[in-house]
Amino acid sequence: MSGILDFKSIIEDSRSLARDLMDGKAAEMTVEHHGEDVLDNRLYLGDNLDAMLHLLGDGMKGKIDLVYIDPPFFSGADYKRRITVGRGEERLVFYNHAYGDIWEEGISEYLRMISVRLFLMRDLLSDRGTIYVHVDGRTSHYLRLILDQVFGKERFLNEIIWSYKSGGAGRRSFSKKHDNILVYTKTKDYIFNPQREKSYNRGMKPYRFKNVAEYQDDIGWYTMVNMKDVWTLDMVGRTSSERVGYETQKPESLLERIVRASSDEGSIVADFFMGSGTTIKVARDLVRGWIGADSSIHSIVTCKRRIGPSEGLRLCHRLVPGDSRLDFKARASRKGEALELSIENMRLDSEAIGKDASDPDLAIRLLKERPQTYIDYLGLYGIKDNIETIGEWYGQDVELGFLIEDFPRKYDRIMIRMIDIFGNIAERELEV
Ligand SMILES: C[S@@+](CC[C@H](N)C(=O)[O-])C[C@H]1O[C@@H](n2cnc3c(N)ncnc32)[C@H](O)[C@@H]1O
Repeated sequence: MSGILDFKSIIEDSRSLARDLMDGKAAEMTVEHHGEDVLDNRLYLGDNLDAMLHLLGDGMKGKIDLVYIDPPFFSGADYKRRITVGRGEERLVFYNHAYGDIWEEGISEYLRMISVRLFLMRDLLSDRGTIYVHVDGRTSHYLRLILDQVFGKERFLNEIIWSYKSGGAGRRSFSKKHDNILVYTKTKDYIFNPQREKSYNRGMKPYRFKNVAEYQDDIGWYTMVNMKDVWTLDMVGRTSSERVGYETQKPESLLERIVRASSDEGSIVADFFMGSGTTIKVARDLVRGWIGADSSIHSIVTCKRRIGPSEGLRLCHRLVPGDSRLDFKARASRKGEALELSIENMRLDSEAIGKDASDPDLAIRLLKERPQTYIDYLGLYGIKDNIETIGEWYGQDVELGFLIEDFPRKYDRIMIRMIDIFGNIAERELEV
């Protein structure tokens, strides 16, 4: 059968693999409870297959009202993350691996990867749930067939065309300026809150029809109509204030439409390929519960930076402390009501630093003189029954010694977590 795409076996194998995985042992993970347990918002670091198995084993079957996914597109590209560190003359640029979208065995390997996950997502969706699968013309036709099998073709709701201006110009074809978002529901009884949009009158003049409200803006006269399935929205531009340095970041305006239309306040919204966390940010802003998963630590750091400290966050992972190329020592002492903290002896594999830097010599010098240049995230947590976030610092703002005024008496242990720009993680726990 080589060369011919065997859809039947992709679907049947994925269906039975998903069933075996669900019948097997629930995925084990460390679950850190950050703050009171009143909310159950989660971020999973790891393969989303494990995240979903963990959720299913943790009573979340049928609990999610909306899943949006923006998986790798079968682009054949190895996505890089551009990181700049240092200031002025001492500015350095690193291009770090973000994630690979290369499938050695071709499209069938890609489709198997996605199909088994779609079966698990279906089980996580509530009876009123909807899934949005964001792809482009390279895979949308394959995904339609797969989704028809996983959800049933009668559960197809829409194919949304997201049209934008950015990207290259086509010379030997029309310029490719749209993505496809395939929408399926779990049952006939799904959440759908119609969204409204402007529809400009012909000639931009008023029609003056009876009982039709008309409005005017700088462009001309318009009426409000139910939103269509072709959406023209700008990508996150280079100068946009939304931009967080994640190459495939999607605009909040796109996710806002999806979250508003297919979930209610209090619904749980999930994104299992969350990247920079656009879905999570929008769900949080619109008072939904949220679950995000990504295999990249940069995604988790970027998302956390975007949303800030979150009450009721559960951080789920399989980190093995100590298994890292980053190391540091820390000292903490109470000074009255305050806590004095210093981080010493920060060590980082210098080989890794020289290799990907725009200026390797400067990179090594900075490591000696100002090692904190390489910190992407520093978290300080108090440990009681839960882990409580006392402070979080990102990127260039990190210092290695500081005083925390009014340090709560209730903690007798703290944890310091450091993540460097290369994704290495180190942790220290201290008595205070
Ligand atoms: C296209 S990006 C998502 C971008 C996102 N929509 C945004 O607005 O930033 C795809 C993400 O999926 C993640 N990813 C790919 N395969 C994964 C897997 N098997 N499990 C978890 N995350 C995965 C990658 O690390 C990457 O961050």
